[in-house]
Amino acid sequence: MSLMAVYPSLKGRAVVVTGGASGIGAAIVAAFARQGSRVAFVDIDDEAADALVKRVGSLKRMIVPEEVARLVMFLAADDSSGITSQSYVVDGGWV
Ligand SMILES: NC(=O)c1ccc[n+]([C@@H]2O[C@H](COP(=O)([O-])OP(=O)(O)OC[C@H]3O[C@@H](n4cnc5c(N)ncnc54)[C@H](O)[C@@H]3O)[C@@H](O)[C@H]2O)c1
Repeated sequence: MSLMAVYPSLKGRAVVVTGGASGIGAAIVAAFARQGSRVAFVDIDDEAADALVKRVGSLKRMIVPEEVARLVMFLAADDSSGITSQSYVVDGGWV
């Protein structure tokens, strides 16, 4: 039995945590993930970030900056000139 309160309003909400791979940030990432929020975090410690992604079940995989950069390059290029008013989620999927 979980002793943690459940806040339905957090389910599916987008959350961004800086310094989220360890310490307080990691606890925040894990807590929001348990609420069903879509959590993204940034950190300079790749090893800790990878370990957290594996530990927190709802995070499917780690996203690297190049993946976001590729989308930005596409949106900045002529190839995307026909696209307007769209939002793109680069989160690697979540469970
Ligand atoms: N632990 C406490 O009791 C406490 C109390 C009050 C305030 N704070 C403050 O809260 C913050 C977090 O504390 P903590 O104990 O979790 O620290 P921590 O060192 O365990 O975690 C900090 C995280 O931030 C990451 N980080 C550092 N520089 C970064 C950068 N430029 N970009 C992205 N990520 C970066 C680190 O890799 C690490 O994962 C710190 O600023 C700390 O001073 C901590």
